[in-house]
Amino acid sequence: MTTSDYSKYPTADAAPIAVNMLESFRAVGYSMEAAVADILDNSISAEAKNIWIDFDWKGADTTFSIKDDGCGMTNDELINAMRPGSRDPNEERHIKDLGRFGLGLKTASFSQCRKYTVVSKKKSKEPVFWTWDLDYVYHYAKEWKLIALLPDGNWNEQMQNLTSGTIVIWQDIDHLLKGIAKDDKRAYDKFLQTMERIKKHIATVFHRYIEGNKTRIFFSGREVEAWNPFLIQHTATQNFPEEPLHNGKIKVRGFVLPHKSKLAPEEFRNAEGVKGWNAQQGFYVYRNERMLVSGEWLGLFRKEEHFKLARIMIDLPNSLDGEWQIDIKKSVARAPFGLKDNLKAYASLVRAQAVEVYRHRGKVVQRNATTQHFQPVWIEKQRDGKRYYEINQTHPLIVSMDLKAVKPLIRLLEETLPVPLIVINESENPDSFFRPFERVAASSELKELLKAVYNSLLNTNTPEQAKNRLLLIEPFNEYPELIECL
Ligand SMILES: Nc1ncnc2c1ncn2[C@@H]1O[C@H](COP(=O)(O)OP(=O)(O)O)[C@@H](O)[C@H]1O
Ligand SMILES: [Mg+2]
Repeated sequence: MTTSDYSKYPTADAAPIAVNMLESFRAVGYSMEAAVADILDNSISAEAKNIWIDFDWKGADTTFSIKDDGCGMTNDELINAMRPGSRDPNEERHIKDLGRFGLGLKTASFSQCRKYTVVSKKKSKEPVFWTWDLDYVYHYAKEWKLIALLPDGNWNEQMQNLTSGTIVIWQDIDHLLKGIAKDDKRAYDKFLQTMERIKKHIATVFHRYIEGNKTRIFFSGREVEAWNPFLIQHTATQNFPEEPLHNGKIKVRGFVLPHKSKLAPEEFRNAEGVKGWNAQQGFYVYRNERMLVSGEWLGLFRKEEHFKLARIMIDLPNSLDGEWQIDIKKSVARAPFGLKDNLKAYASLVRAQAVEVYRHRGKVVQRNATTQHFQPVWIEKQRDGKRYYEINQTHPLIVSMDLKAVKPLIRLLEETLPVPLIVINESENPDSFFRPFERVAASSELKELLKAVYNSLLNTNTPEQAKNRLLLIEPFNEYPELIECL
């Protein structure tokens, strides 16, 4: 059909109603951290070397701002940037461009606030500014109209201090702060938690930029450190060879992170990320250098405890946005159908290795208790080609007991250990057992035991030595963080 055919049809105007449309932008479903990340994308695409994220707590009147020293915009460019759908999603983008729909600035901002201003300055030009104010559009304009309003504060001065750059200022942050008084201590604490989450999210999503010294990000004046999911520098991390897919346009690279016992408590806590160890397993999808997906199996597998050490990097160019169904929030991606089998095969290898590492943790049974200082609970023995298990009577907890009194009990346990049943269960349902003291109810018992053994070790050791010994005593070796807290 040629376009001239359209002249045969009567038409009716169905332009969007500004207010309704702007209100529906609010419902895109961004979290505050995803919204902030989307604003940062623009700063990075504008080649900013520095980004400053700040807030000024005033309860419901709090302002939140993101400033960059990127290329800035002229007045016309700024008005166009404020226009919803300013870019064609199918238009080819510069390879470094992190945008996609021409919506991010608008949807991300409106998802959090009812009013936002963008101040921008090109090199050797005066700053320009425009504000979207939902209440103005709603009550007065009833049209797609910006106002030339600059919020109170030293924004102009800040802008003058930069050669070029942009500030996005959010006000009336109603989803988070509606009706909140400035002196509401609890609301303030909650707000600070949200700020902390944003900081961690930024450290994750932009870790490659931060690590590459391409961009420095400051949150409330403090420089944000990168969070790298793969512990690449750690000697106990296992690397899988990189595999090119989709004619080499996509790269996949797997990692199995070290077992907990190989990580210092601090390293262990840090590697856990925003979501926690179990939830952080899976694929990490990057578009250019920007992380979109942080630990998801993309519908190919389920998350399970024994795969939690598997993390796999996927690198996409922005030319494949459409095929990977990158969403507006840039937090969801889907593997194209044609790649699912390849991804599944690669991930299965990494996952299998992850289970191996996970299982070998504080080995359940020490085969030769005398070679190391490690103190297991059980020792495997052999006689006449048959195996049996004995309780290690040099284990500090056993030593501390009245051996004569407990000996019959120990012998009873050793003789009746249900080995065949355990073997069958384990082979039918790998890793369906709790780790020692893993059940919630057992954690206080564990702490009691730990304290008791620690105190008895203190008779002959310094606190430092006692803690080091505890790291080699089963089952305490699996809980270095508790030992640390003693
Ligand atoms: N901080 C910034 N510095 C320079 N230009 C910007 C900045 N933020 C937004 N822009 C301009 O506004 C446009 C629209 O941004 P946005 O709504 O996020 O959509 P997209 O990033 O998908 O293009 C960008 O393409 C860019 O040209
Ligand atoms: Mg954008």
